[in-house]
Amino acid sequence: MAGFLITFEGGEGGGKSTQIARLAAHLRSEGHSVTITREPGGSPGAEAVRHIILSGTAEELGPEWEAVLFAAARADHVAELIQPALQRGDIVLCDRFHDSTRVYQFLDPENDQALMERLERVALNGVYPDLTIVLDVPAEIGSDRARKRRGHASADRFEKDDVQVQEERRRAFLKIAANEPERCMVVDGNRPADDVAAEIRALVDDRLEARRFEDIDRSLKLGHEQ
Ligand code: TYD
Repeated sequence: MAGFLITFEGGEGGGKSTQIARLAAHLRSEGHSVTITREPGGSPGAEAVRHIILSGTAEELGPEWEAVLFAAARADHVAELIQPALQRGDIVLCDRFHDSTRVYQFLDPENDQALMERLERVALNGVYPDLTIVLDVPAEIGSDRARKRRGHASADRFEKDDVQVQEERRRAFLKIAANEPERCMVVDGNRPADDVAAEIRALVDDRLEARRFEDIDRSLKLGHEQ
């Protein structure tokens, strides 16, 4: 596939949407075609499921059935939006993806981890991120930021969880990053937005450059074989 998929992960109030907008502006200024999207949502079918999940209507079903809903939304999003964008050669920036399901729905080791893996395989259909940026902020600071951003609006299904749970989620994201260092980069989000944006820009530029060399290498090898 010609494009490049970058997912942004982390707890609440980590500054993902600001950083996605900043990175998109930078990449576009370099001539790349960029698609911005988010989960849950990103396609009409998935946006409908988003509403059901975030309103808390499905909370009674428990985390595993909520995970099934997230997976249904993700399958639609991948098929309808992400795959076509990658096929066009776009850089796709996605606000949350499969790591959020691992962390939010399967944090408790008692939850069916084999179900998690099956849902992930089916929903992603082979479309794994080329790069995942974990924006890391202490849960207390993230919750505070999210509260300020919300103003008078009420907290959604997951924002209302207490700081201790949010800190456990933070550790779970860091663990995923430690287990998959090739794919994941942890960026300290507890700094001025300009500094965070500069670090992300540099590391994405590096990865894209590496990909360009891999492509050249591959086409040279193919040339030799013919
Ligand atoms: P959103 O308003 O997009 O929040 P944020 O700005 O934090 O990304 O809400 C998405 C919420 O859904 C967020 O609390 C994380 C949660 N979520 C899951 O629980 N599982 C998932 O697979 C995804 C994609 C999100």
